[in-house]
Amino acid sequence: MAKAPKILILNGPNLNMLGSRQPDVYGQESLSDIEQSCGRHGQSLGMDVECRQSNSEGQLVDWVQAARQSHDGLILNPGAYSHTSIAIMDALLAADLPLIEVHLSNIHRREAFRHHSYVSKVADAVLCGFGSHGYLLALDAMARRLNAQQET
Ligand code: DQA
Repeated sequence: MAKAPKILILNGPNLNMLGSRQPDVYGQESLSDIEQSCGRHGQSLGMDVECRQSNSEGQLVDWVQAARQSHDGLILNPGAYSHTSIAIMDALLAADLPLIEVHLSNIHRREAFRHHSYVSKVADAVLCGFGSHGYLLALDAMARRLNAQQET
């Protein structure tokens, strides 16, 4: 049997505050609730899911760089760094892994400064506005993408 693909889910700044942070915008679930359901959903899709969160841009860059060697796909909610971080965008380009960007909120319905994402420029796909369900949809899409890759 082929080895389970390894997927890294990264969450950026302030996403550790989910549940208590603007629940009207970001929902009631904590990050740990979301990570647990991602783990279960990944397992049901035959994928090995690892979740990490950092408030620090440099840490996220380090993890993205290292993922090139250790993981088969990335799901990333860069939080506010989406709108500012050329460093994360460059790390993603260097990592050259299948990449899905997720936002809990619909960033296009919010303030103008949230409409632009550097990460979207290098992501294979972007999901926003589905709340925590967006991470599960991203896992579905990643499984499909990696299966298709295996068949070619
Ligand atoms: C977010 C949207 C960003 O604009 C914001 O800075 C976040 C969360 C989202 O998941 O909707 O921290 O990435």
